[in-house]
Amino acid sequence: MSTQPAFKRILLKLSGEALMGDQNFGISPSVTEFLAGEIRAVVDVGVEVALVVGGGNIFRGEGLAKAGMDRVTGDQMGMLATVINALALQDALERAGGLQARVQSAIRINEVCEDFIRRKAMRHLEKGRVVVFAAGTGNPFFTTDSAAALRAIEREADLMLKATKVDGIYSADPKKDATATKYSELSYDEALSRRLGVMDQTAMVLCRDHGMKLCVYDMDRPGALLKIICGDTTIGTRVNR
Ligand code: GTP
Repeated sequence: MSTQPAFKRILLKLSGEALMGDQNFGISPSVTEFLAGEIRAVVDVGVEVALVVGGGNIFRGEGLAKAGMDRVTGDQMGMLATVINALALQDALERAGGLQARVQSAIRINEVCEDFIRRKAMRHLEKGRVVVFAAGTGNPFFTTDSAAALRAIEREADLMLKATKVDGIYSADPKKDATATKYSELSYDEALSRRLGVMDQTAMVLCRDHGMKLCVYDMDRPGALLKIICGDTTIGTRVNR
């Protein structure tokens, strides 16, 4: 396989749940260390890597609202949860991955991390630093998938990746339906009309309207990220306009 990257700038979306590993809650150090290694391999071939992380391993605004909490408060707690995850990733990237990393938050929390400033983020990335975008879009009612789509478009990424627990997008949930088949490629309109649940509709429409390519892949597969970046199209599912 070539180690010549087919993409120059990527945005990787990690769910909060992905950081839990085998735990029921919180952050597994072995998972963040594994991710740091996967990301390091991609940075080493000259790719600019930005991350967006969710917060579902700690708090999920929608879930809190269903339990009776005010939705905006719940979403704000969810945003703070993503900051916690972003700090854990920054630590793992710098300590285990030997990389330089910077967290930028969409809500001001200056003592803890930098504010989101697009041009500053671009400079960090040009210098080979990994930027972790935290606190979603900074607004309630928007998911971290939408934040990932927004940041990918804003920073002119040439690929957005969504790391999941399955190796791509299936016609149905493969854990519940044995007849589910995997797509190697599909369009945003197909994903939307078939309600495939890849990402929420806001995120998909944003990606579609701005021509952002998406790859959904299994984050637990060692080396998968580097292979995708180097042009291997047999891994995961690609979604295009
Ligand atoms: P250069 O401008 O390329 O030197 O980037 P840099 O990030 O190394 O320099 P800067 O002086 O901006 O930041 C030095 C350190 O302070 C880095 O670890 C930044 O993440 C951190 N830092 C910068 N701005 C803030 C901030 O507003 N809040 C917090 N908590 N840390 C910050």
